[in-house]
Amino acid sequence: MSDKKITKSRFWFEEHEVETISEVPNKKIKPWASDAKLDVVGKPISRIDGPDKVSGRAKYTFDRLLPDTAIAKTLRCPFPHARIKKIDFSKALKLPGVLAVITNEDAPSIPWFHESTLFDSHARYQGDEIACVAAENEAIAEAALKLIDVEYEKLAFVSSAAQGMKNNTPKLYDSGNIHHGKPTIYQRGDAVSGFKEADVIVEDTFTTQCAVHNPLEPHGSLVKWDSDHLTVWDSTQSVFGVRGKVAESLGIPENNVRIIKQYMGGGFGSKLEAGKYTVMAALLAKKLKRPVKIVMDRQEMNLAMGNRPDSTQTIKAGVKKDGTISALSQKSFGAAGAYPSGTGTSWPLRSMYQCPNIYTEEYTVFINAGPGRPFRAPGHVQGTFAFESLLEQAAAKIKMDPLEFRIKNYAEIDQVGNVPYTSKRLRECYELGAKAIGWNKRNKIAGSGKGSIRHGIGMASQIWWGGGGPPAKATMKLTADGQLQVFSGTQDLGTGSYTFIAMVAAEVLEIPMDKIKVVLGDTEICPYAPGSGGSVTAPSVSPAIRDAAEQMKYKLLSFAAVLSHEPIENMRYKNGVITSVNMSSTKYKIEDLVGKLSEKEIVTHGDREANPEGMAIQTFGAQFADVDVDMDTGKIKVNRMVAAHDIGRMLNRKLLENQFHGGIIQGMSFALLEERVIDNNTGKVLSTNLHDYKIPTIADIPEIEVIIASDSDPKISNTGVKGIGEPAIIPTAGAIANAVYNAIGVQVKDLPMTPDKVLKALGNA
Ligand code: MOS
Repeated sequence: MSDKKITKSRFWFEEHEVETISEVPNKKIKPWASDAKLDVVGKPISRIDGPDKVSGRAKYTFDRLLPDTAIAKTLRCPFPHARIKKIDFSKALKLPGVLAVITNEDAPSIPWFHESTLFDSHARYQGDEIACVAAENEAIAEAALKLIDVEYEKLAFVSSAAQGMKNNTPKLYDSGNIHHGKPTIYQRGDAVSGFKEADVIVEDTFTTQCAVHNPLEPHGSLVKWDSDHLTVWDSTQSVFGVRGKVAESLGIPENNVRIIKQYMGGGFGSKLEAGKYTVMAALLAKKLKRPVKIVMDRQEMNLAMGNRPDSTQTIKAGVKKDGTISALSQKSFGAAGAYPSGTGTSWPLRSMYQCPNIYTEEYTVFINAGPGRPFRAPGHVQGTFAFESLLEQAAAKIKMDPLEFRIKNYAEIDQVGNVPYTSKRLRECYELGAKAIGWNKRNKIAGSGKGSIRHGIGMASQIWWGGGGPPAKATMKLTADGQLQVFSGTQDLGTGSYTFIAMVAAEVLEIPMDKIKVVLGDTEICPYAPGSGGSVTAPSVSPAIRDAAEQMKYKLLSFAAVLSHEPIENMRYKNGVITSVNMSSTKYKIEDLVGKLSEKEIVTHGDREANPEGMAIQTFGAQFADVDVDMDTGKIKVNRMVAAHDIGRMLNRKLLENQFHGGIIQGMSFALLEERVIDNNTGKVLSTNLHDYKIPTIADIPEIEVIIASDSDPKISNTGVKGIGEPAIIPTAGAIANAVYNAIGVQVKDLPMTPDKVLKALGNA
């Protein structure tokens, strides 16, 4: 009988529930017990790719170059909305060193990009692709862009979601500016009667800005054809995802396309989908019979490589005197940019706390600006800020401690699916976090402090999926020199995948980390693993690694049993050496065992097991902020953040802290600094570099304490791991906003909470 079976499973990839059908292990390996004494997993081991990175040896897509590579640059529409009447690139082609130009005529349709074509003669945003030039070097390619004559018919534009919602406003599509022409509605119970049951009703509107991912390494590809086979080095979160889309665009089989990504300088969701630029480079390379490299500059990053859509959220909560939430509703809209993109923000309200009666209505609005893309916990970051801010008002109104109020409405089962959680340790998160921040030192009445610097403490809760699921695969190869190679088609975005994968293998096979080589991000040599998004990487991949390693161990034990003519039950495995309980002389080092084989290698294949049915897998957490607000300047200083989370089993304390530091810094930056600014008069983006688009410096970073309240979630998988990349950022802005309210007694309801808005809020009060 096969040790594998084909089965259906379900998991959440960000806000989408995905049903998969895939090969999974027939029998689940017994999960490590919550209190298992593990030697490697959980330890604060430094990342194995650290030396390569700090020495500059690590090759990012940005660094790659092949002999004879041509450099491509994209001509982008300078106007927010225009029709291309005519393109003349004859002058550009005459410039010495210019090799080729592609535009409309040469371009295939790309169904995966909203049924559009590579270059659309209807340009819908400043930055929309118009043509692409290949030249001998970057300077020539850039000079060539200026020599392309384009006749534009400028069109009236929409620069905000509020404007786009109006009736008599310019339209991006014949069908109008509202995606699908109608809102997305979610209902549970009966909100109308739920509000009637309430003793107190609070309602308010909160707004969040458009933020841009701005990963340090820009998007880009290097492509090369070998007859009809295309190799792409791409800075991507999903090598298999990009392979499918690129093959589809070029009309060639997926197996003729190889996508490689070794190291990457961040993505945050903006590199989850394939880029048009990869297809452009492939077309140019085919034409030129030379490799082509295309890399975005910072302006292109800020205009065209995705963003977190803005939001306007009107939220209402009905609360009884004892603190019970009886109903919640939300009406919101957000700007998708010029192409469809998720703008929903209501998931935290639907799922965070116990509430029988809910109504939400959400509009996705097209505007003439760069298209949105998933951005680290899409929707949850915006939604949690607004919802947790409103709850702060509700708690104040019924004179209840905000933390007590949240515990009062603790959800014991999954509110949306009405099923139990695989695990939920949020109570412990509340307890440990409150203790660490010094919750009792907060102002009992918001704004009751004195002086020109006001101190405040606030908190917010977090819920997110991040459970992962099949398919995720790994291949392991042990060779006679004692080296273990591990292959998996996942990717390391800078998050530490290389390291946790080696750790799981080292744990099972009890061999030193430096004997393990991890190969990721290559569709030709690695078995399938999902895109690295939705915080699914570690929870999907780590159990497949363990599966492959346990099989390797079993094969080694079986082989030793055969050699010593003993039953396998007598064999003992310790530190890469197999002994027999009976014969003290039997002793095999695993590399010697492999050396006895003619093939000189042992290969195994591991798979992620299916998820349990009828259960919800969620991550939980609470973050606590300690802030000072300067009453004279309006400046907010975040002194300290405490993050207390339930993420199942921790694989590596150091990598985990990296993720939380990154998430909290990015969350704080969203709360206080970052904003894509569009000038309403010209429709142009004013923040297209990292000077105008504000991000924090080291001087802005608070002290950060990370507390993990969970030990494992054995119901999910053999490793019991849940994701952390997105949970880390979700409650940060809400916690800071509530701390600001605690300090000054008024809420700043519009992100980012810049000093002018703080002073205005104080003035209004
Ligand atoms: Mo997604 S926003 O890449 O986790």
